[in-house]
Amino acid sequence: MLLAHVVYATITGNNEELADIVAESLEKAGVQVKETEISQTDAADLKSSDILVVCAYTYDEGKMPEEGMDFYEDLQELDLKGKVYGVAGSGDKFYGEYYNTTVDHFDEAFQQTGATRGSANVKIDLEPYEEDVEKLAQFSKELVAQAS
Ligand SMILES: Cc1cc2nc3c(=O)[nH]c(=O)nc-3n(C[C@H](O)[C@H](O)[C@H](O)COP(=O)(O)O)c2cc1C
Repeated sequence: MLLAHVVYATITGNNEELADIVAESLEKAGVQVKETEISQTDAADLKSSDILVVCAYTYDEGKMPEEGMDFYEDLQELDLKGKVYGVAGSGDKFYGEYYNTTVDHFDEAFQQTGATRGSANVKIDLEPYEEDVEKLAQFSKELVAQAS
């Protein structure tokens, strides 16, 4: 059985909602899922899962979640070859060039670990609507297909 770890960073709940949607989609595909908040997550814990997902917000013109910096820094030091990862985020298009930049930073961090991107990054504008739920379900399916 495949194991997945979904990590989220949230202030107002949108990214937790993204994480819940991804977790539910993965579970539907028969994957066993662990979902944790970023400041409560030891990056090294990712080594015990096959599929790794981060859903995190962007603040103050391109700033990453402060409470996730330990996780972010430790993540880059890991060897995650053979693992499949995906990154999603809820931001706000109002912020233009800074829209969902945290998603790109986590993607780069995972690239450093040698893990394989199983699906394109998903950037969502504010709370997830029906079409976003679809996108996240597709994202989850692709991660499972890549890991299988
Ligand atoms: C002060 C402030 C600054 C923000 N800066 C950005 C930003 O630079 N880029 C972005 O995409 N979204 C930005 N946002 C929007 C949030 O990322 C967006 O509301 C997101 O859905 C919040 O996620 P959460 O509900 O998981 O906390 C900002 C929001 C606030 C209140």
